[in-house]
Amino acid sequence: MIQITIDGIPCTCKKGEKLLAVARRNNIFIPTLCHHDGLPGMGSCRLCVVEVTESGRTKVVVSCLYPVRGEIEVVTNSERILAHRKMILALLRKRAPKSDVIAHMCEAFGAPDLPVASFDGGKCILCGLCVRACDLIGAGSVATRTLLKKLAGQGCAYPVAGAGVIAMVNRGTTKSVSTPYDEPSEICIGCGGCANVCPTGEITVTETDDGRTIWGKEFKFAFCKECGELLGTDKEVRYAAQRGGRDPDFLCPACRQKRSADAMADAFGRR
Ligand code: SF4
Ligand code: SF4
Ligand code: FES
Repeated sequence: MIQITIDGIPCTCKKGEKLLAVARRNNIFIPTLCHHDGLPGMGSCRLCVVEVTESGRTKVVVSCLYPVRGEIEVVTNSERILAHRKMILALLRKRAPKSDVIAHMCEAFGAPDLPVASFDGGKCILCGLCVRACDLIGAGSVATRTLLKKLAGQGCAYPVAGAGVIAMVNRGTTKSVSTPYDEPSEICIGCGGCANVCPTGEITVTETDDGRTIWGKEFKFAFCKECGELLGTDKEVRYAAQRGGRDPDFLCPACRQKRSADAMADAFGRR
């Protein structure tokens, strides 16, 4: 275990633990945009910068990616850091002029209104969280694409595009996140994982009682055939079942458990 101080508060952490995680565990606030506890970090927004002093030398680091390796002193809100955050937010506002989240943060942190034109953009800050979420939990994952390819060979209903569901496209001012050729993706399962992690609300999801529309594609909802509970999109349920190597039973976990318990009771003549 290593002893460090953050804003003068003594904190204990494991070697290699990320600074942001240590701060959060000790209820010390560091603002973030592109960080998600469940996804690998890329350090793209830079909002979580802090000052670290080690062996008498002070430097500015990105706390969500900085691994603690020895005794350090950390300051999360020095004048230098506050100035960095203001400028980062001012630049993000130019990148994502339609984002209410960024606008509110600019106001809260006192970010200046830079005398340069905004991008003709929406709310996206190009943090890449959505792409990583899809790669990890959605249909964009390498594991899923491999599986879908295998299943396609066995007559699976899902066609395989051979590319991620969503990715960063174009360069410079026109860089954005999109599906291949901006078309509704054939392998998207409509899980909404990408939209759930987006910090700025860029990804539009509309839902009715019957289904969800995301990335320009409509998905029907599936419900538990016993109790009627919402299970997710039909494609999501089929995809989860196929990943588990079984046919979809369209049951919620509670009804599936009950069905298994009934089957056991029948098998042992206890019903
Ligand atoms: S909704 Fe589609 S693009 Fe978004 S995470 Fe799920 S599979 Fe990927
Ligand atoms: S759509 Fe959202 S999650 Fe994806 S890169 Fe843009 S801001 Fe990040
Ligand atoms: S939260 Fe650390 S760089 Fe974005």
